[in-house]
Amino acid sequence: MNPQASSPNNTSRPEPNRRFSVAPMMDWTDRHYRYFARLISRRALLYTEMVTTGAVLHGDRERFLGYSAEEQPLALQLGGSNPQELAQCAALAEEAGYAEVNLNVGCPSDRVQNNMIGACLMAHPALVGDCVKAMQDTCSTPVTVKHRIGINGRESYAELCDFVGTVHEAGCTSFTVHARIAILEGLSPKENREIPPLKYEVVHQLKRDFPQLEIILNGGLTDLDVMQAQLSHVDGVMVGREAYHNPWLLSEVDSRFFGDDHPRPSRIEVMALMRPYIERHVNAGGQMHHITRHMLGLFQGLPGARHFRRELSTTIHRTNEPLALYDQLLEQMQARVG
Ligand SMILES: Cc1cc2nc3c(=O)[nH]c(=O)nc-3n(C[C@H](O)[C@H](O)[C@H](O)COP(=O)(O)O)c2cc1C
Repeated sequence: MNPQASSPNNTSRPEPNRRFSVAPMMDWTDRHYRYFARLISRRALLYTEMVTTGAVLHGDRERFLGYSAEEQPLALQLGGSNPQELAQCAALAEEAGYAEVNLNVGCPSDRVQNNMIGACLMAHPALVGDCVKAMQDTCSTPVTVKHRIGINGRESYAELCDFVGTVHEAGCTSFTVHARIAILEGLSPKENREIPPLKYEVVHQLKRDFPQLEIILNGGLTDLDVMQAQLSHVDGVMVGREAYHNPWLLSEVDSRFFGDDHPRPSRIEVMALMRPYIERHVNAGGQMHHITRHMLGLFQGLPGARHFRRELSTTIHRTNEPLALYDQLLEQMQARVG
């Protein structure tokens, strides 16, 4: 084994706390969602949507790397498999101040497979190791990998250990594991998040076999008690869909996962705190809907939740005065939930 492998490379920047994170989700965890989520939890580690190396290197840099300082701690997720390009992107991520750079080895979409991005890379552990090493050589920001427990045709536990062992030897010490395999042909990305069965016990075994590594469990977690119980097997949990559809889940994260009992804003206060952010966006020519579409689940389970959702998903498209609609809705919700 490479003697340097167990020391965390040349990482001099502090590791973010990964006990609870919100998963990277394309089209969902954009900067507006993250700004909103951060008002609800100060401590959860947030991830960007996946950004490909091509987009970062050749696209609009502000669009792909820009964020608000308030979103921190924030990790950038990259999609790619060319070590030099990934290294260039990691250096840019460091310059932009991200707390972590994460490599996507979990996405099963056909589109990304054709470009050797995502879950198909699980069949190429040495290449993933080269990618991690190249990124670590150019930046001191922590580099992590998000992957599945396997892909079809490579789903044995021995192959998973080969993958994690090889990438660890290249210098990676933190792995976020979506606890189901990806089936690379015949299933849509959505089906690949639902059909292959969840196998938490495989991730638990991985932590037992690689106790020196940080292992974060992802997939199907919806209940905070269950998540907390998982911490006796793994180092942290990553939550995707539930944190999006039911964002108020995040309101208990700081106290439960980080022992941080600061006063928490109410839902109404969160709505009010979003108001200036929305106004800035609208005044800069943006549409309110780009932001409020991420807030639809804020009142889930409370009286008025349907009204709130309907106003922000339907009525919003029929008004020329979106901010007036927002203010009216704020008053209505205040009257309903107090
Ligand atoms: C709409 C959507 C987009 C996603 N985009 C990404 C992505 O860009 N990168 C990634 O690694 N995973 C992506 N995922 C997968 C999630 O990060 C996560 O692994 C998966 O949803 C399982 O976690 P959950 O059951 O808590 O949602 C996406 C999931 C959803 C629902």
